[in-house]
Amino acid sequence: MKALVVYDSFFGNTEQIARAVGEALQSAGDVEVRRVTDVTPDQLAGFDLVIVGSPTRAFRPSPNTKAFLDAIPAEGLRGIKVAAFDTRIAPEDVKSGGGVLKFFAKMFGYAADPMAKKLQQKGGTLVAQPEGFYVLDSEGPLRDGELDRAADWARHIAAA
Ligand SMILES: Cc1cc2nc3c(=O)[nH]c(=O)nc-3n(C[C@H](O)[C@H](O)[C@H](O)COP(=O)(O)O)c2cc1C
Repeated sequence: MKALVVYDSFFGNTEQIARAVGEALQSAGDVEVRRVTDVTPDQLAGFDLVIVGSPTRAFRPSPNTKAFLDAIPAEGLRGIKVAAFDTRIAPEDVKSGGGVLKFFAKMFGYAADPMAKKLQQKGGTLVAQPEGFYVLDSEGPLRDGELDRAADWARHIAAA
């Protein structure tokens, strides 16, 4: 299996998750982990599995992630397994305004769901539920255990 993990990251947390996912996939085949700005849509052909990860920013994927997903041609992911993850903050970890964030997060959600939807719209076969991994603050760190949870999520995908 040839897998590509594409990520965006401002503070390094999503990159850490992407690398944990990549490492966990290694037992199943060849894996590349690349920043979203270093990948063009024409490079996706030839991969069996493409996983995209983004920080949640204003309830959506980052602008670079959105631009990358939008640039994939219609049917560009036909025959390719796909999955999406984001990083996010749990409202209970927000020091002030957690109630407000909870309210809006309930309405507008997180990045991984629209990313998974877009990957499917481009023809990809979704092989895992979109997943969110938690940071404790905007710049991190990740919550304890999230790298292990990411590796588990990836192993589940490799087995799919
Ligand atoms: C401008 C900005 C907007 C954000 N919006 C959200 C949001 O809507 N929901 C959320 O859960 N976290 C939000 N966050 C927290 C980010 O998800 C967090 O910074 C990110 O997971 C860190 O990943 P990175 O280190 O890869 O950039 C926001 C952070 C910033 C700086």
